[in-house]
Amino acid sequence: MKKTTVVLLSIATLFGLNGCGTDTPSSSVAKTYSKTPAEVYTQSCHKCHGEKAEGLTEKKTPPMNDRQAGELELDLYDVKNDGINQSSGTEHDKMAHNMQKLLEKGFDYDPKAMAQYIEKNFYKMPPKTAPAAEAPAAH
Ligand code: HEC
Repeated sequence: MKKTTVVLLSIATLFGLNGCGTDTPSSSVAKTYSKTPAEVYTQSCHKCHGEKAEGLTEKKTPPMNDRQAGELELDLYDVKNDGINQSSGTEHDKMAHNMQKLLEKGFDYDPKAMAQYIEKNFYKMPPKTAPAAEAPAAH
């Protein structure tokens, strides 16, 4: 009898411990990616979108250095999720298709992190680049 109680108690404790704290991360938010945005970009995206995300006419790719992270994030999300957002227009069919292939190859990314990477490294400042201190003009 006593033994059983102890066992039951420890089981309860185990469950209790599991319940709080280190739960499995809620799927979408804390997903881990095997590559950093930089790796994904320099190993894959750049081939079609250009070294500086400037867009390549021969690949018919649009630039991605012309918007800021917030906006870019939505497009990055879109192409990855294959037109889940039907409402946002499906002009990204090609890229959505490419992206499925790229995902299979492990070129997965977090849209937000990727958007920030692209903005930070490639965002095209207004022409005749002003000294850094200048406030960014609306493009
Ligand atoms: C095989 C060539 C190719 C590769 C590799 C590629 N893209 Fe694309 N991408 C395209 C083409 C072509 C388009 C334009 C047609 C379309 O949007 O479907 C495009 C469009 C996009 C758009 C929409 C741009 C906009 O203006 O809204 C995003 C976002 C994008 N690509 C992200 C990526 C990312 C991120 C990667 C790397 C993981 C990547 N692409 C790799 C060919 C490519």
